[in-house]
Amino acid sequence: MDKLIPTVNKLQDVFNTVGQDAIDLPQIVVVGSQSSGKSSVLENLVGRDFLPRGSGIVTRRPLVLQLVNVPRAEGEIEGEGSVHAQFLHLPNKAFTDMNEVRREIERETERLAGSNKAIIKTPIHLRISSPDVLSLTLVDLPGITKIPVGDQPSDIEAQTRNLVFEYISKPNSIIVAISPANVDIVNSESLKFAREVDPKGNRTIGVITKIDLMDRGTNSLDILTGRVYPLRLGFIGVVNRSQEDTQSNKPIAESLAFEGEFFKSHSVYRTIQQHCGTKNLAKVLNQLLMQHIRDHLPSIKTKINALISQTEQELSSYGSMNKDSDKISNAGRLLKLITLFATEFSNSIEGTAPEMS
Ligand code: GDP
Ligand code: NA
Ligand code: MG
Repeated sequence: MDKLIPTVNKLQDVFNTVGQDAIDLPQIVVVGSQSSGKSSVLENLVGRDFLPRGSGIVTRRPLVLQLVNVPRAEGEIEGEGSVHAQFLHLPNKAFTDMNEVRREIERETERLAGSNKAIIKTPIHLRISSPDVLSLTLVDLPGITKIPVGDQPSDIEAQTRNLVFEYISKPNSIIVAISPANVDIVNSESLKFAREVDPKGNRTIGVITKIDLMDRGTNSLDILTGRVYPLRLGFIGVVNRSQEDTQSNKPIAESLAFEGEFFKSHSVYRTIQQHCGTKNLAKVLNQLLMQHIRDHLPSIKTKINALISQTEQELSSYGSMNKDSDKISNAGRLLKLITLFATEFSNSIEGTAPEMS
């Protein structure tokens, strides 16, 4: 069971490498308006800061982030474990400095999307391995934008909309809909988007950010407990770093500790701990992703097998023509890879019939 998410990650790599989009692998997609706190939530889940910062539209390409939990080395303290990062477009380079990871995301964004404010569909793939993360595959998307700023194209709203829908409309996507606590939930853009593709709220989890910024005397109790907006997967409230914290380079570990204390000592939130905090969010997402993969195992297997036989057919048709040796070796390599991972996949899901919990 532990191997399930890493194996799905590998399958994802195989398909990305060969430019195939034949399998909608399960993934968690983070959506929200600009400045709603998407990047902050992701950084908290990773426990490190590594995402480009700035005002306006910073995320201009989808970032597919594979978090891989690795065993803790002896003597490693929680929250200070090793971090290894790797980009799919730089397979031979290992990153341990998160500032370099940030710069590489910026560089790779500019390489394809230019230095103006354009957004582009081609994702950046980043894998982060650490004992401090739970295995998860997350997609960070450009923020939902209503009004073009600077030299943004005038159709920026349509562009972000299309991109977000491309990801959240896949039935295999779990939608993390971010809404800031200091904006009325009925105006939440992310929930509006989610509702369009998941009207019954079956695969949407609501995350309320900026709980610390609410007016005194108000709280998110009714929202977090599901009395305001129905979502089967419910809501979780979080407190991320403030702008001031980020500017003063407050370590994420410190802000996670602050968050924990905030909810534990709060007279209202203290009573609904399961709906509060980044740690709970990570746990819930990890469980959801595993359950989701388990639920979709039959269809994933069918698709893998279909792809194998399709590639086999392709290969044998090349064989009879026997001229395009590049095509033959590519198809052969693809076939080998998929077969290998199909086997690994089967092995990793052995004994993973839905649990009785
Ligand atoms: P994104 O545009 O959705 O990725 O939003 P960011 O994560 O960049 O957050 C936008 C701004 O809001 C940043 O200055 C964050 O520091 C701040 N922010 C995000 N979440 C919280 C929160 O829970 N509490 C506070 N006080 N500030 C937050
Ligand atoms: Na939103
Ligand atoms: Mg962001």
